[in-house]
Amino acid sequence: MAESNPTQPAGIDKEAIRAAARNLEDGPVTAGYKGDRTAVIKMLNEALATELVCVLRYKRHYYTVSGLQNGPIKAEFLEHAQQEQEHADALAERIVQLNGQPDFNPATLLDRSHAEYDASEDVQAMIRSNLIAERVAIESYRQMIEQIGDTDPTTRHLLIGIMAVEEEHADDMRDLLE
Ligand SMILES: [Fe+2]
Ligand SMILES: [Fe+2]
Repeated sequence: MAESNPTQPAGIDKEAIRAAARNLEDGPVTAGYKGDRTAVIKMLNEALATELVCVLRYKRHYYTVSGLQNGPIKAEFLEHAQQEQEHADALAERIVQLNGQPDFNPATLLDRSHAEYDASEDVQAMIRSNLIAERVAIESYRQMIEQIGDTDPTTRHLLIGIMAVEEEHADDMRDLLE
């Protein structure tokens, strides 16, 4: 028997790895995947709907906010809209990796979103609604990360990264509150 090598974890079974990798149609999902795939895909679709509503809300605010003094706020709204779009894209990609169907159906979007749309005309009302939506997003990502635990490290890693950006967004909106 070979001496244990401290640089290599014990108990890696090459035959088991190859067996778990056998089903090629499952793409990146191997037999060893520990997550509840259906539940994870459902969560990711809710997050996707939330991000898409956030894109629309920030775009609405970006295009309608006016006044010379509001230039920096306008720029912030645009940056957030673009980052929410990046989040939506990353979530849709992960859903497909997990052999799920990303739901972009506009007819049910708002219903499936955790955050709300907002068409305020006053800039401070816009900022407040964005701050609320960011806090909703943070809390919903926090719950998803908790539920996934260690069962799906890639999804967990993705959600932690997105949540950190939502925390920055919430902080940006708080800085703009009067
Ligand atoms: Fe986002
Ligand atoms: Fe955000």
